Amino acid sequence: MKELQFTRHRRLRHSENLRGLVRETHLQKEDLIYPIFVVEGENKRNPVASMPGVEQVSLDILIGEMQEVVNLGIKSVIVFGIPANKDELGTQAYHDNGIVQRAITKIKEHFPDLVVIADTCLCHYTSHGHCGIVEEGKILNDPTLDLLARTAVSQAKAGADVIAPSNMMDGFVAAIRLGLDEAGFDHIPIMSYGVKYGSAFYGPFRDAAHSSPQFGDRKTYQMDPANRAEALREAESDMLEGADFLIVKPALSYLDIIRDVKSNLNVPVVAYNVSGEYSMVKAAAANGWINEKEIVQEMLISMKRAGADLIITYFAKDVACWISEEK
Ligand code: PBG
Repeated sequence: MKELQFTRHRRLRHSENLRGLVRETHLQKEDLIYPIFVVEGENKRNPVASMPGVEQVSLDILIGEMQEVVNLGIKSVIVFGIPANKDELGTQAYHDNGIVQRAITKIKEHFPDLVVIADTCLCHYTSHGHCGIVEEGKILNDPTLDLLARTAVSQAKAGADVIAPSNMMDGFVAAIRLGLDEAGFDHIPIMSYGVKYGSAFYGPFRDAAHSSPQFGDRKTYQMDPANRAEALREAESDMLEGADFLIVKPALSYLDIIRDVKSNLNVPVVAYNVSGEYSMVKAAAANGWINEKEIVQEMLISMKRAGADLIITYFAKDVACWISEEK
């Protein structure tokens, strides 16, 4: 008689504690980066309709908000500014007294240990909503680089700990690295949105940051979602230009890309769990169709399993809360 032979995988799944012992991936508070939107004005808390739970806040309210974030054990935030006035050249992006510069200085004054990351782009500051200088309907690469370097330097002067350029012009990391070094900020790291796809998942963010392009789209500078090899070319050139971290964005539909970048480049990888990924979960949860807490944890774990070291997520406060409750 032949014996039935097979492997008993279920031996390791008997109890929660046993499953905990063999768990391969963990989500920690240290993994989380929380995005915040800062607006001009006083006593402003503008809810973002397409992102329930996300608000634009004015500077006077910001510190209370940040206190909550710090109390929850979150170690890092990424700051987006929404200026009162926009113009062709996005001058408010690199104004030393701009909204994001004032926000960064204020946060660092109150919370010197919080790692403050500055998003370095022009699209929230330009009247046309593009990430670069526009001439005759074209987005110019090289003339934009100088403005990005100026933006990064003004953010570093304001006290930013990390510069995160998201603009996707060629050479943006090189230009920003040189600008920072020349201004005496050679110790400030660059977290490059090196692998950024032209994605419909950014829709709700553009409501939050008022940054929709007023004509055309971003397809001449952001990547084609159909491309995988190109992601490594983008990532490699950013590394050569001096990036210290690489962001892959969006995250959920690009887990293969996160894995590729992690396996091929020896650098901390950041997954950006973008606005559309957030809004889809929020909408389904509001309808009672999914369990929000379980879905969010599964999504974020999948990003870490794919190779992300850090995750930028609008769910950061919720996740930090859940982690505290478990302890
Ligand atoms: C700016 C920028 C965008 C996001 C972060 N920085 C939008 C865009 O490229 O249009 C999107 C973030 C999100 O959707 O959560 N370039």
